[in-house]
Amino acid sequence: MKETKGAKITIGDNTFHLPILESTEGPNVIDIRKLYAETGHFTFDPGFTSTASCESSITFIDGIEGQLLYRGYSIEELANKSNFLEVSYLLLYGNLPNQEELDDFTGRITRHTMLHEQMTNFFRGFRRDAHPMAIICGVQGAMSSFYHDSVDISDSWQREVASVRMIAKLPTIVAWAYKYSQGQPFIYPQNSLDYSSNFLRMCFAVPAEEYEVNPILSEAMDRIFILHADHEQNASTSTVRLASSSGANPFACIAAGIACLWGPAHGGANEACLQMLRQIQTVDRIPEFIKRAKDNQDPFRLMGFGHRVYKNFDPRSSVMKESADEVLNLLGIENNPTLQVAKELERIALEDEYFIEKKLYPNVDFYSGIILDAMGFPTSMFTPIFALARTVGWISQWKEMISHPDNKIGRPRQLYLGSGYRPFKPLNQR
Ligand code: CMC
Repeated sequence: MKETKGAKITIGDNTFHLPILESTEGPNVIDIRKLYAETGHFTFDPGFTSTASCESSITFIDGIEGQLLYRGYSIEELANKSNFLEVSYLLLYGNLPNQEELDDFTGRITRHTMLHEQMTNFFRGFRRDAHPMAIICGVQGAMSSFYHDSVDISDSWQREVASVRMIAKLPTIVAWAYKYSQGQPFIYPQNSLDYSSNFLRMCFAVPAEEYEVNPILSEAMDRIFILHADHEQNASTSTVRLASSSGANPFACIAAGIACLWGPAHGGANEACLQMLRQIQTVDRIPEFIKRAKDNQDPFRLMGFGHRVYKNFDPRSSVMKESADEVLNLLGIENNPTLQVAKELERIALEDEYFIEKKLYPNVDFYSGIILDAMGFPTSMFTPIFALARTVGWISQWKEMISHPDNKIGRPRQLYLGSGYRPFKPLNQR
């Protein structure tokens, strides 16, 4: 970390010096680590709008330019030229693999796709109508009770084994959560298939029939996984980092990330977005919904619109839009009414003063639901698929954090506005 010129802060009659640390890309940061010790003041930044919570070399977002880089490579290039396991290797180890490294990594992932057979009991314990995110969160957390030989975070080998296990098993867990909700038998992984084809087969095959994976769909699935693989210090990633800062085991920490991702402001937006597009139903009803989104007395928001960091466009949404066109064309459903509503809604919103002024653009979730719907997934499966893809990002960030020499427990401060000390009153005097 390079230190450049400093900043000064004046409190009362005293001026304090704060170092400024230089980043390789994006804004430099004012180092306030000694602020409390030297000034007796905390900083206040709910929602972390101006606070860098860690150092990281994994993912970079330029919200103004609409740029997303994984280890320096653009998301557009990776989505068009790479595949999910290669991207996973890149996120985990820092560089694109050569053929030998890729074969070795693919082999390791492939050999860990099965779940401990006893884990099927967990699925059966859930109600049939349970949301798959509830099942995935529970089963993911339960992994720490099965794989005792990879929970010691101080052992780099165990960290590696835990990482491979989670990346390999999440598709099986997600597919089985879906199968369980359908009342269909679990389909075991098929190791001759690639990562995405295997996932589609585990979701859509049934033992009674032969199932051929459509290569167009598996390619689209793989692209969706790449686009969701990592996104810097978002809410779920920060949750994983905070949970693991206490030394908790990796399976539990990733379960915490899944729980955070579920919310409609984060990974749950793809499900909410498709529901909204269906609710709009026809192009002529769009103005009514735009009006509601602009009304600050109405809690309704355009789902799939807006982003904390992207203030120009979300590069993932452009790739996703192209992919939606491609998949729907190839499946012969280009006249899909939901896609028509989505495109028209995007057009109208992008010309509207409210959305222009607030810099609200379609995000990754705006088009992903349309593709997943065309593939045959119910809306409840959209966020689980996001969780599956994001697992490698969470793990990469977790590994980076654990191996950092300054790793310490996360412990934010607060601006306390409650009562000062008051003496306890016995019940009969209140
Ligand atoms: N529709 C209508 N108005 C909006 C929207 C929207 N989708 N998003 C933000 N605004 C308005 C908001 O009402 C506020 O207005 P005002 O200044 O008058 O109070 C202003 O824009 C700023 O919004 P904010 O909530 O303070 O911004 P934020 O950076 O805290 O929130 C967000 C970002 C993504 C949570 C928000 O834009 C949102 O709720 N979008 C809809 C949900 C969504 O699509 N989420 C997926 C995000 S991308 C995938 C992921 O990260 O998981």
